[in-house]
Amino acid sequence: MRVAIIGGGGRVGVCAAYALQWGGIVSEIILFDILEDLVRGEALDLLHGSAFLHDQRICSGDLESVAGADIIIITAGLRRKPDESRLDLVNRNVSLFLSIIADLKAASLRKDAILLVVSNPVDILTYLAVQESGLPPEQIVGLGTLLDTSRFCSLIADAIKAAPTQVKASILGEHGDSMVPVWSSATCNGFSLENHPELTPTTKNKIFERTRQSGAEVIRLKGGAGWAVGTSIATLVHAIVLDQRKMLPVSSLQTGTYGLAGICISVPTLVGLGGILEHVELELWPRELQGLKSSANALQETIKRIGV
Ligand code: LAC
Repeated sequence: MRVAIIGGGGRVGVCAAYALQWGGIVSEIILFDILEDLVRGEALDLLHGSAFLHDQRICSGDLESVAGADIIIITAGLRRKPDESRLDLVNRNVSLFLSIIADLKAASLRKDAILLVVSNPVDILTYLAVQESGLPPEQIVGLGTLLDTSRFCSLIADAIKAAPTQVKASILGEHGDSMVPVWSSATCNGFSLENHPELTPTTKNKIFERTRQSGAEVIRLKGGAGWAVGTSIATLVHAIVLDQRKMLPVSSLQTGTYGLAGICISVPTLVGLGGILEHVELELWPRELQGLKSSANALQETIKRIGV
């Protein structure tokens, strides 16, 4: 499987490439960026390490080679300032994103390509990709709240001093201010965390608020997220390439799950070969369901405002 990264010279693009290199599952990683020397340098630096890792082809490429990839990851775009919401970015990133989609189509985008949208506001841009790319909606996947979910589980594990990979808890809804923590199904190695002595209501609120603010916290500290986004992207790419049918909270076009339709938002989704396999409507607490609906309304309003 060939994976191309648009924005491959940027922090998120490079971290995704590095995670995919360590993963050793995809056969080719193509980096594309308008900053040509930078992206050639990043590709070369990664290639230099391949002898100690995996037999992958790593290169920088033009738009034609990107359009010929099986999975195209779009990370290009402007980053928000610490005090801006992801939705505030909409005016600045929509036109850039539309020009990327138009360029891909002009470069003969493959009919079976999967577009993996990472740029923000991710739910809105995923929706634009559904509208504009000409590809079936199941081939358009937004990173959505997968990154928030990883942050949430990691922070819960840190708080209860448990192994991070044993903590399972999801964030659904918008990858943004209205994201929803799903405490109702939070577990550690299958055991409910509902009455965990360390997880008092105050601690739970603190963990969720820190999760919600994580993007801004990292922007303030180091200019923007990279490693955890890269790990989330590689998790998603591997689920597709290996046809894992993993249930992941990713953003995609909704057609009725939880009563949501006509927007891209994160709900529990089976992901495998071909992209989005199924949306799964599992039970949520009433306030979680209400939160998901408010999140959907916020996105719907933005879509109306930008008139797409
Ligand atoms: C973040 C950006 C990627 O949450 O939205 O760090």
